[in-house]
Amino acid sequence: MAEQGRRPVIVGVDGSDSSVAALRQARELADALGCPLEAVAVWNYQMVPGTFTPVLWNPAEEAGKVLRDALVRAFGDRQPAGIEVRAIHGQPARALVDAGRGARMLVLGGRGRGGISGRLLGSVSAACSAHAPCPVLIVRAGPGQEPAPPAKDSKETAMNGPVREPEAADGAAQAALREHHGQMRHRLQSLAAALARAVAAGDSVAAHDEHAVLVEWCETDLLPHTLAEEDRLYGAAAGQPEGRLLVSGLLAEHQALVALLEELRGAGGTAAAVTAGALDRVFALHLDKEDQLLLPLLAGAPGFSLPDAVEGLEALVGAAHVRRSQAGEAAGR
Ligand SMILES: [Fe+2]
Ligand SMILES: [Fe+2]
Repeated sequence: MAEQGRRPVIVGVDGSDSSVAALRQARELADALGCPLEAVAVWNYQMVPGTFTPVLWNPAEEAGKVLRDALVRAFGDRQPAGIEVRAIHGQPARALVDAGRGARMLVLGGRGRGGISGRLLGSVSAACSAHAPCPVLIVRAGPGQEPAPPAKDSKETAMNGPVREPEAADGAAQAALREHHGQMRHRLQSLAAALARAVAAGDSVAAHDEHAVLVEWCETDLLPHTLAEEDRLYGAAAGQPEGRLLVSGLLAEHQALVALLEELRGAGGTAAAVTAGALDRVFALHLDKEDQLLLPLLAGAPGFSLPDAVEGLEALVGAAHVRRSQAGEAAGR
């Protein structure tokens, strides 16, 4: 218990009302558990093609100001003694998940607005719920500023496990998309590696075959996936203020993937292997962004059902998930 008592309660702060509520809740929990309390803000640059980062803008300084302001809003002149305050540079969901290692609990606001520019705390909190190595408590601002109730399908509480926001069907659809992303990632990685091996070995026949297999996979799997996303998923995300920039970035990456595929079609030998490697790396980054940012954002999109959007679409969730869904429906009849 002594070891448990030293692990901190960590609260993520972005300056939103819900993160101020999370600060108050985290303090109560830290006091009750006899744990130290740490407040963290995560900052990052978001590079947008064709723009320049203003030289006078200091995001680390802004993150520190967000933290200080939130502490004043949460506690006024009764600041908690011994609270540690940190501004962390990184991708928000990943930084908070990392911060959660060794933490007694991670406390987050449920729906971020404003605060540090361009952050997506609503989606970040959902991503942390899914991936943090410690219990996660999602707090919503509101009358009485009560913490969000546990998901209906979960018996876990904030004290013994993650409190998960998405409903079960949303969670299953997200899991299917992530699983399909993982399969695609693995497939592209192995096809690009096979082409690189054949080129390195000087085996032009094998290189020709591997090149053809890779191009065909891109045409039958990768491209249909991107088109289905643009048709079924990106619009709902772009319709939210937090998602507009994200979707424009994802669309630009789709175009980059198409351009790399075009380059790959006309390339041979070492050039083909290098292009395949670039395609693999861009795709991996793109998938990571969709898993970490897009899917949690879609889970909270008003009037949008992720399970309905992906239903029956092998290009989005893979054939195995579609077969499982159809078998489940048949069994339920
Ligand atoms: Fe995509
Ligand atoms: Fe995708």
